[in-house]
Amino acid sequence: MSYILEADPAAADMLRATLGMGWRIVGTMELLRRHLTSDTEAHTVVIGANVEQDDVFALAQSLRLTRPDLGVILLRRSIETALLTQALRAGIREVIGERDLSGIRDAAHRSATIAHALHEQAHLAADGNATPLGRLVTVFAAKGGCGKTTLATNLAAALADGGRREVCLVDLDLAFGDVAIALQLFPTHTIADAVPLSDNLDETGMVGLITPHSPGLFTLVAPLEPGMAETIPVKTIVAVLHLLKRMFPYVIVDTPPAFTDHVLAAFDASDVLALIATLDVPALKNLKLTLETLDLLNYPREKWRVLLNRADSKVGLSLADVENTLRVPISAQIPSSRDVPASVNRGVPLVLDAPGHAVSSAIRDFGLRHVVGTAERSPAIHRHPRTDGRGMFRRKAKT
Ligand SMILES: Nc1ncnc2c1ncn2[C@@H]1O[C@H](COP(=O)(O)OP(=O)(O)OP(=O)(O)O)[C@@H](O)[C@H]1O
Ligand SMILES: [Mg+2]
Repeated sequence: MSYILEADPAAADMLRATLGMGWRIVGTMELLRRHLTSDTEAHTVVIGANVEQDDVFALAQSLRLTRPDLGVILLRRSIETALLTQALRAGIREVIGERDLSGIRDAAHRSATIAHALHEQAHLAADGNATPLGRLVTVFAAKGGCGKTTLATNLAAALADGGRREVCLVDLDLAFGDVAIALQLFPTHTIADAVPLSDNLDETGMVGLITPHSPGLFTLVAPLEPGMAETIPVKTIVAVLHLLKRMFPYVIVDTPPAFTDHVLAAFDASDVLALIATLDVPALKNLKLTLETLDLLNYPREKWRVLLNRADSKVGLSLADVENTLRVPISAQIPSSRDVPASVNRGVPLVLDAPGHAVSSAIRDFGLRHVVGTAERSPAIHRHPRTDGRGMFRRKAKT
């Protein structure tokens, strides 16, 4: 949770509308201090224009010592040099004009990503010399409309679990990606902005491209215009995914319904291939062809996970029929529910809106069992280079 400190309720509401989900409004400095004492996950405080300046400087000075990871963003009606100097001395991260709504949003994004990077560094330091690489899951189906985006968005939100884990959801459906719409995001940057950086892409550059959604859930969205897809070289995708695996413990990749070079780059970087089918013959035929292609390309079967979406549809095909046809076990069955499209229309993943829903439970169980697995219980897996797969990236232990 992050905080908006603003005494004027109308101004506070407008700030929350600007900043989106995951922000709590507090009306007094005292209340804010109390929240921050117990909320050690908070990463940003936006302080509205109606809060007394001296109080803000005193708060920022104390937070600088007690919570150096917490970003303080100060909004003022007018910004003079003297104010900026004072703010800098107090440790305030940014001062923005109260009417500059896109500037406020950008500053909040920067603060979230800085907090994330600091968090990662703390993890690295705690882990000694290990260079942990995140687990990357590519969600794929060769037939359109099987539920890739539904699974990818809900899986990412389920793993993030309100900030318990840090997850980056990447929309690799470069022409028609709808992650931004499904999550009601208003991104200022997209994956296309990585192209000019791809030879020198580093964490600082990546931080500017990421759009935060809710605690623990970050996104790298698809270009806003379909034509941009062709201008993104595969090497950019390789660089992006490689870097995200270094920055996030979990990376979920949504894909278009086709074996594009971009998708193959994601497969190369994947620890888990989440392959979806629905209970209809064309979808199952496509999945069978997909599995045969993956075999031909030598993607190890240990990484395959087959999920059946809308698995309870009464269409005359049984689970046994499907397993016999595909000759692989089904790792998860996601029921059909009208609440799924309704949640997409609301722009909130079902796992966040209705965590107890049967669809949410199926996706969360899949995530915990097949993505998190034993990774969180045995950090040692991050300490050694991988020797198992044909992936392009290897975990490197720092020497
Ligand atoms: N379990 C489910 N129950 C009911 N509706 C679902 C379920 N899963 C997905 N849907 C609906 O099916 C439609 C297609 O889902 P989604 O967009 O996730 O598929 P996709 O594979 O990403 O499609 P595309 O190939 O076009 O990217 C959406 O309207 C979604 O709300
Ligand atoms: Mg999709």
